Amino acid sequence: MEYLYHRNERIPLIGFGTYRLGGRDRTAEADTLKHGIESLGMTLLDTAEMYGSGLSEEILGRVIKGMDREKLFIVDKILPQNADRGAYRESCERSLRLLGTDYIDLYLLHWRGRAALQENVDRLEELVRAGLIRHWGVSNFDTHEMEELFACEGGENCFCNQILYNISERGAEFDLIPWCREHDVLVMAYSPLCNSYEARTSVSADPLIREIAEREGKTAESLMLSFVIRNRVIAAVFKTSSVLHLEVDMQNVFAPVPEGDLALIDQKYKCPTKKCPLEKI
Ligand SMILES: NC(=O)c1ccc[n+]([C@@H]2O[C@H](COP(=O)([O-])OP(=O)(O)OC[C@H]3O[C@@H](n4cnc5c(N)ncnc54)[C@H](OP(=O)(O)O)[C@@H]3O)[C@@H](O)[C@H]2O)c1
Repeated sequence: MEYLYHRNERIPLIGFGTYRLGGRDRTAEADTLKHGIESLGMTLLDTAEMYGSGLSEEILGRVIKGMDREKLFIVDKILPQNADRGAYRESCERSLRLLGTDYIDLYLLHWRGRAALQENVDRLEELVRAGLIRHWGVSNFDTHEMEELFACEGGENCFCNQILYNISERGAEFDLIPWCREHDVLVMAYSPLCNSYEARTSVSADPLIREIAEREGKTAESLMLSFVIRNRVIAAVFKTSSVLHLEVDMQNVFAPVPEGDLALIDQKYKCPTKKCPLEKI
């Protein structure tokens, strides 16, 4: 595993997502997670109270039971509906119970709800003071929302903005990613493998992507991940329920993508030249 350093934390560049965990073959899912953590150093683990209404947290909790907690960096997210009614403590404590741990490393507001941002910041800061979470952040916040957040008292303590970002969804490169970098907010990319079957296979079947991947000893999937982490400042969380896919996805993933190949990718998967609203799932 390779790491980035952010506000005195060492964070794996690539972590495990848990969206839709709890499918038909839970043993395979748990084995994949365990393999990722123990053999590939994927100790960055992303979950949310929304995923399976706590099922993902529960499965993740079972997988990490008995592991050295200090070696894990657990990201969890509160549902905006719960945040709106001020139920931060209740949600967080439920997540902690399901995960079987007594703190969350990074707790995110899953997306913006109706409550004033200052109220969210105040509640999140309370959780930090209570020792239930170590850091807080947001998810799916576009640039104007980050600006609003930073206008709140304590808003600058936002550790991270988790956003949709991948080779075919590069809108955030125009101003959101630079804004976050400038304000010392970690960008964590979700759906780095393009999430949907259609979007992923359109990239992985692209002859250009296949040719570049083959030249670099990667697979199309690992090239997608390498692309997202190419500057070593964005962390990526992806999901797979199969050890086989996991090996394919991680193949030679940390070998840098040469400038020439990045230029070829840029020609086809264009970097935006104007502001477009942040895409969300
Ligand atoms: N903050 C947010 O709002 C938000 C939104 C969405 C996601 N997330 C987080 O980000 C994580 C990752 O995003 P994601 O799950 O949406 O998308 P993703 O990681 O880009 O793609 C996951 C999909 O790719 C498939 N896949 C992986 N490797 C493959 C391979 N080698 N060949 C074929 N298919 C492959 C997986 O299926 P298999 O399981 O069959 O391998 C799964 O269906 C989530 O799990 C979640 O933790 C956050």
